[in-house]
Amino acid sequence: MDVEITDLQLHYGDFHAVKGIDLTIEDGSALVLLGPSGCGKTSTMRTVAGLETPTGGRIAIGGRTVFDAEQRINVAPNRRNIGMVFQSYAVWPHRTVRQNVEYPLKVRKVARAERRTAVEEILELTGLTEYAERGASQLSGGQMQRVALARSLAMSPSVLLLDEPLSNLDALLRENLRNELRRIQQESGLTSVYVTHDQAEALALADKIALMRAGRIVQVGSPSDLFESPTDSEAARFMGFENILPIADGDTGLRLGGRPIAPAATDDGDEIEETVGEAPAASSAAGKPAASEFLCVRAENVEILPDGEHGATPATVSVATYQGRSVEYDCHLDGGQRVRVKASGATPRYARGDAVGIRIGADAGRVLSGAARA
Ligand SMILES: Nc1ncnc2c1ncn2[C@@H]1O[C@H](COP(=O)(O)OP(=O)(O)O)[C@@H](O)[C@H]1O
Ligand SMILES: [Mg+2]
Repeated sequence: MDVEITDLQLHYGDFHAVKGIDLTIEDGSALVLLGPSGCGKTSTMRTVAGLETPTGGRIAIGGRTVFDAEQRINVAPNRRNIGMVFQSYAVWPHRTVRQNVEYPLKVRKVARAERRTAVEEILELTGLTEYAERGASQLSGGQMQRVALARSLAMSPSVLLLDEPLSNLDALLRENLRNELRRIQQESGLTSVYVTHDQAEALALADKIALMRAGRIVQVGSPSDLFESPTDSEAARFMGFENILPIADGDTGLRLGGRPIAPAATDDGDEIEETVGEAPAASSAAGKPAASEFLCVRAENVEILPDGEHGATPATVSVATYQGRSVEYDCHLDGGQRVRVKASGATPRYARGDAVGIRIGADAGRVLSGAARA
């Protein structure tokens, strides 16, 4: 069922945690709430479940209002028909997998034969058939999360809410289960809201991503919208653009991607020497106004070239890290700016201290404004 959130507000005492969220989650689709820790993802999700009472706004599930501040409607959590999966494993350790999954159906007094069929279907869907008779405490973390999910699915919820369900798992398992979750969501056609701070997880699991920052939604779009066209420099940083270079108002003698680049702030790193003497006028760090525009470029879209290459900007390699299929370089330009480069190919061609050239193609990056102050 679709979920409609309108001007949602939530305060914890004086603290304004959710600041007017509007969001529609279409029937059968997966929405991911993405954002840094503390931005209000869990709070927003808990209001949908009825576990927090908003201080304003409206929430409707399948066209039925479950919360409305003005009309004083607040449907109890157990009457919203919502399934939830959390970071911690909510399973009964002393029961078998089958008993865990069957329990919600028993509570609902579903007839025995029907219950059987439903349990088999859900075990199959969640890849648990072969573990059905195993005690839940004998399972790995990933399997326990499958059981928690299976149990939520057994309740035939209108909406499934998942709050960082993979964050306790190790990297490989996390990736496998992530793909499984996407398959299960698509096969079951269940409307779901998934909370995470991990952009890779969001890209893999979402039909639509809502990017949150400090209690607000700053961008809503498809995974590729967010990946390719972040709304501002802060969104770009969060979506993995490694280079966010402040663009200068006037000519600074340094151009990258066809834009004049501002000198680095002098407190940017310990390796950067104070600019003295006839340095560009803007370099007094204290009084310098923050740039309003930024050239945002992914490390793989920056070229690293031999020193003296025509059209390249001189730089010095400060770190080269081998990454298997690629090599990552942290370079410093003469103005102190750090530029990260990811070069494909497994052999490091440059080492710390090498003089190199940096090039950013005119269409390799995005020019974005800085984040608006909340
Ligand atoms: N019960 C609470 N009482 C007071 N402040 C809270 C409570 N729960 C969360 N917060 C605060 O609200 C903000 C958002 O929290 P949360 O929704 O948990 O963020 P996220 O899930 O995005 O990490 C944070 O600053 C957090 O400290
Ligand atoms: Mg949270």
